[in-house]
Amino acid sequence: MIHTRVSELVGGTPMLGIPVRAKNSTLMLKIEKNNPGGSMKDRMARSMITSALRSGRLKRGGVVVESSSGNTGIGLALAVMDFDIRFVAVVDRHAAQDKIEIMRALGGEIRYVEGDYAEDEVAVVARQCLAAELAESIPGAVFMNQSDNPANPAGYAELVREVVAQTDGRIDAFVGCVGTGGSMTGIARGLKEHNEWTVAIAVEPVGSIIFGRPGRPYYQSGTGTPQGDTVGQVLDYRSIDKGVQVTDSQAFETARYVARHTGLLVGGSTGGAIYKALEAIHTGFVSGNVLVVVVDGGEKYLHTIFNEQWLGERGLLDPQVAADLKRWLA
Ligand SMILES: Cc1ncc(COP(=O)(O)O)c(C=O)c1O
Repeated sequence: MIHTRVSELVGGTPMLGIPVRAKNSTLMLKIEKNNPGGSMKDRMARSMITSALRSGRLKRGGVVVESSSGNTGIGLALAVMDFDIRFVAVVDRHAAQDKIEIMRALGGEIRYVEGDYAEDEVAVVARQCLAAELAESIPGAVFMNQSDNPANPAGYAELVREVVAQTDGRIDAFVGCVGTGGSMTGIARGLKEHNEWTVAIAVEPVGSIIFGRPGRPYYQSGTGTPQGDTVGQVLDYRSIDKGVQVTDSQAFETARYVARHTGLLVGGSTGGAIYKALEAIHTGFVSGNVLVVVVDGGEKYLHTIFNEQWLGERGLLDPQVAADLKRWLA
């Protein structure tokens, strides 16, 4: 079938099953990096735009403003094209530079938050404030506010349908990253509607405050809620069976290991989810078909998590992670 719009290419992503033979289980990787904007966020971005248009809050020819670490912004830059809408992304220096350049290449306007933030510090509160201010001051502008926007979790309904079809409805567990909580809530709820026994494990970076642990800066991009920010209203804790934390080293070393051993380039947050999924399979907490969504691809992080010097200078190299993975996948 020949499509006429790039937006029609969102979804329909493939699934890769990696056997974990010792535990009679399979790591099911839903390759969301194959979406046109390179992440699962293309789905929720389109959902937020169409929902705002349907409600009348946003008009064709209007302006959309969003605070984004990059992937939501890329998804929005794509989604607005069909409706002649201008897109303004509010970013901080924590965002991967390549993601910002992609947004710009797609016609997005970039606004950096002012202020002196360390590179492992997310200026998310400042970003939200500036986005809200811009939406107030630009005529016809709407702040998408993904953390509190119900169209964010709702945007994953089709992903759930695809997963159910691809696995004949047999998903025993879902291990997902949690930032706004939109994907975790949307996917976990959807899978549980299909099979109420599906176990949902939410993974946040060490230093993120979603599960009540102490906050401190972390390098994982796009995931977690940093200290000073409030957990998104879209996160439904009832959809989660267990909240766990992953270190930056575990996340990044896993992404490097997966690249070297499978040929699949995944981003850092996905590396963290894969590490925790394999750990949960290894300890017997879950078994069977265990779903992890490949949120985005490693191509967006070649200068950071796939660069040994960058990792070494920040003390993020840890050979123990590869040893764990080798044992778990043996
Ligand atoms: C790379 C990456 N991982 C994880 C997440 C978290 O997803 P969610 O906001 O659905 O919790 C995001 C969100 O922007 C992301 O960009």
